[in-house]
Amino acid sequence: MTHKQVEWWKQGVIYQVYPRSFQDSTGNGVGDLRGIERRLPYLRDLGVDAIWISPIFPSPMRDAGYDITDYTGIEPLFGDLEAFDALVDAAHGLGLRVLLDFVPSHSSDQHPWFREAREGRGSRRRDWYIWRDPGPDGGPPNNWLSEFGGPAWTFDAASGQYYLNIYLPEQPALNWRNPDLRAAMLDALRFWFDRGVDGFRVDAAEHIAPDDAFRDNLPNPDWHERLGPARQLFRTYSSHQPDGYAFVREMRAVADAYEGRVLVGEAYGELAQVMRYYGDALDGFHLPFNFGLIEAPWDADHIAGLIRDYEAALPAGGWPNWVLGNHDRARIASRAGPAQAPVAAMLLMTLRGTPTIYQGDELGLENGIVPPELIQDPWERNVPGQGLGRDPVRLPMPWDDGPGRGFTQGTPWLPLSEGSSAEAQSNDPGSMLSLHKRLLSLRRSEPALSLGALELLAVEGGTVLRYRRTHEGRVLEIALNFGTQDIALEPGAALVMSTDTQRQGWDGQLAGNEGVILVPDAAG
Ligand code: NOJ
Repeated sequence: MTHKQVEWWKQGVIYQVYPRSFQDSTGNGVGDLRGIERRLPYLRDLGVDAIWISPIFPSPMRDAGYDITDYTGIEPLFGDLEAFDALVDAAHGLGLRVLLDFVPSHSSDQHPWFREAREGRGSRRRDWYIWRDPGPDGGPPNNWLSEFGGPAWTFDAASGQYYLNIYLPEQPALNWRNPDLRAAMLDALRFWFDRGVDGFRVDAAEHIAPDDAFRDNLPNPDWHERLGPARQLFRTYSSHQPDGYAFVREMRAVADAYEGRVLVGEAYGELAQVMRYYGDALDGFHLPFNFGLIEAPWDADHIAGLIRDYEAALPAGGWPNWVLGNHDRARIASRAGPAQAPVAAMLLMTLRGTPTIYQGDELGLENGIVPPELIQDPWERNVPGQGLGRDPVRLPMPWDDGPGRGFTQGTPWLPLSEGSSAEAQSNDPGSMLSLHKRLLSLRRSEPALSLGALELLAVEGGTVLRYRRTHEGRVLEIALNFGTQDIALEPGAALVMSTDTQRQGWDGQLAGNEGVILVPDAAG
């Protein structure tokens, strides 16, 4: 196969835009579609291939847009269909693809479907959601817990039944076993594909079809508070059920009717569960998100093990992918520490598989501080003070150092970030932004980094993660120092790139917190 025939998403890099916090164009303090369009040149210059935009659909915003009232509309806060079409055209004009967020497992309780379902047991849309009679004690039908705290069931007094809500009570679970609901949801995918959307990131896929016998989940004996209340139980029966995998295949069939589209799936779980989303015949998600790094302790041995296990678990022909951050998890510069952020960036850009960059990570942003009175995230409100809240990773982009940091002329919906701005960093060759540009450009010019085979080498000195990428005779060796001490490596190699712009050449000494890409000594 020549390079030209490789699907774009295998060599491409995805960038997650969190639209509320990307760029405001109206002064209302919330980012919007025209704002994203205005910043497309920044993304092109950064060197990414595609943007995935978190939900932009009509929503009461109880969960920041992951509670949808219309799957084929645009939330007025963000703009309208005209602004959306303009954004897609502009992106395509710059060679950038556009992925949207598809939220199949639940709608908003304000969705007309749910309002109708709630009218009574005889409602035409009753079965589009998941209803159960109370348990024998009159309480919830089983022990399932909501991800955001409390039971996963809400009592509907009018009908005397409970409905399932895996997240907030305002996010009732959709019933994918109902063929009419399924058809309506698949039509929503077609609606956006027909408008030129290049793919979707599919939300919370593990929850699409919970056990239809509604068996109790099993207790987690290793639970501790930091995991949040929902993890007191394993999700034995509430997630990753066989019908869910089948419904993913139906989504894939819709995508396959179009040219060059991609489905990326969010499903947190054990490696084996995640791998099943590729589909037995690679007919599921093209890229089930690999969250290994987002949850990993920052340790060279641990990450070497993670890479080995992930590569070994991939189904034949399944294309790998890697993620360091998203709008739900602590920022990498906070988890690994700012000194390690460049090493982390080099790791993400040189591993085998499609990388996804979370907005602001290219600037090395750390978790922000959100005072209690400004908290927006319902999770933090429900389960306060345990570090579960996601607002700190959702602060507006710091574009420049002027008022509103170039994000808004109004009052931002979350406090402004104190991180270093894109403008300041673009003038600094040693900045995280410049590092990302160098890495992305190297990745584009070196097929070994995107398409090459990966061979893990032994961890050196307990802190240096090393691997080789090889493609059509070109061999690149990556050495990443997770520690602060210098470590001696092979001196005979040639330097391709270092995270440290001051480095002149390769002398065999890898500095603490440094990452390098080398051409190994052929004789070595
Ligand atoms: C996962 C999304 O990433 C998260 O932000 C959201 O709260 C839940 N799914 C519910 O949709």
